[in-house]
Amino acid sequence: MRIEGRTFVISGGASGLGRATCLTIAKAGGYVAVLDFDESLGTEVVSELGHEKARFFKVDVSRTESIASATASIQVWTKDTGKEIGGIVAAAGIGKPAKIINSKGEPLDLGEFDHIMAVNVRGTVDLCRQLLPQLTSVTRPIANKGERGVVILVSSIAAFDGQPGQVAYSASKGAITSLTLPLTRDLAPHGIRVVTIAPGVFATGMTGNMGHRAIETLQKVMMWPKRAGRPEEFASLVLEVLGNEMMNGTVIRLDGGIRMPSKI
Ligand SMILES: NC(=O)c1ccc[n+]([C@@H]2O[C@H](COP(=O)([O-])OP(=O)(O)OC[C@H]3O[C@@H](n4cnc5c(N)ncnc54)[C@H](O)[C@@H]3O)[C@@H](O)[C@H]2O)c1
Repeated sequence: MRIEGRTFVISGGASGLGRATCLTIAKAGGYVAVLDFDESLGTEVVSELGHEKARFFKVDVSRTESIASATASIQVWTKDTGKEIGGIVAAAGIGKPAKIINSKGEPLDLGEFDHIMAVNVRGTVDLCRQLLPQLTSVTRPIANKGERGVVILVSSIAAFDGQPGQVAYSASKGAITSLTLPLTRDLAPHGIRVVTIAPGVFATGMTGNMGHRAIETLQKVMMWPKRAGRPEEFASLVLEVLGNEMMNGTVIRLDGGIRMPSKI
């Protein structure tokens, strides 16, 4: 689909993979709605892109009323600009390692588990759910037989090769992987495609506090290239997914061939 003249909603757009996606889509001629709960980083992204083509909306994706308020403001903005929504990239996510039973014999805190599920799964579904009425009602004639838009979800290789301490995170990313096909089937009649990207190790805010030893061990199990992915490499796949109409209903690993070992 054409990126020019459309608005793309990117959750987690203030940092890492989401931020790189905002910059790349704007460079390709799209307008971007940057959704994040980090106001200072989010407004920095908008300053970089200019207020005409980008807007920041403070959102906590785990709170449905917070998404509702951003959704309403996005609708007003796209009406003003005339740049209808063309897609959603749901990149907001968190991951805090915790084993099912820790070294002191204490079981996993269910509050932590629920929080990860609320942001990574419920937040992703709720964001799509509340924005889709805008995407399904796009009216302007779209190139290529009425394609309306694209939904891109973000899973992780932890959906497949979860490590010790990743019960909650892997469960959340496995859910994103599993819901890709039914979401695709629900949206196909509306001319909307769905693709999930499952990144390997990328250099972002999320991985920034990994210890030196963990990084060295990871480099040993990496195939090629033996380095963390760059956020721009993720964003470049987003561009390809947006432009390539045959990509639909699939989960793409973007991981340099890594298969995570049982521990690092
Ligand atoms: N970096 C990696 O190696 C890697 C690997 C696999 C998957 N992922 C996934 O990629 C996505 C992006 O992560 P990243 O690596 O860019 O991390 P990041 O921490 O740099 O960016 C995540 C962004 O999400 C925002 N966010 C977190 N919780 C939120 C909430 N409740 N509401 C709104 N915004 C919220 C944060 O403020 C942050 O700006 C996540 O879903 C993550 O699970 C990352």
